[in-house]
Amino acid sequence: MTTKISKHTIFTEEVCSFTLPNFDFYKDKIKQIIKVEENILSSAPEKKCNVIAQRTSWNSHLRYPIMYNISEEMAVVLRQYVELEGYDVPHIELFQCWINWYNKDEYANPHDHGDVLSCVLFVDVEETDAKFIFNSNRRTVLQKKDDKATNFSNLKILTPKNGTVIFFDGSVMHSVSPNRSDKTRITAAFNFRPDYQVKR
Ligand SMILES: [Fe+2]
Repeated sequence: MTTKISKHTIFTEEVCSFTLPNFDFYKDKIKQIIKVEENILSSAPEKKCNVIAQRTSWNSHLRYPIMYNISEEMAVVLRQYVELEGYDVPHIELFQCWINWYNKDEYANPHDHGDVLSCVLFVDVEETDAKFIFNSNRRTVLQKKDDKATNFSNLKILTPKNGTVIFFDGSVMHSVSPNRSDKTRITAAFNFRPDYQVKR
């Protein structure tokens, strides 16, 4: 006789998305920045990170005003979200911002952004086979012979359209699979910090 065992889901994770207003305008500007970085002056930090691809400096919102403007468009939506969902976050502030571009065979290892609210703008991704993947932080103690009839998953693969912004808890691990195509894959990342010190 076998004992009936019930399952109870204990944690869930949400990722939100929206389309960036004025995306076509910003897309051209981001591509111009990449041309400048490739041909005139690279601002990429020397220290290696988990993005095994090309990128601008972590503070690109200070270097390129258009990146700050994009962050402001995002912040309007984030504030709207905080208000609508009833979160107790009086103020959010941009902390870091950079552009990533993945040439052939470039990728990003699983990593997280720490204690921030992370936004990723998908600038030019539809024609490459590289995938944005969320990786579960959990260690798998029990592994199944197959994955049928379970709600457990270590990976969640996104297939966003150009112009989509996703935002998520920056402590959630994510990665980008290798770009096997000949097209360059472009994204931009924005880390916001909730500020609870503001008087309300
Ligand atoms: Fe990242």
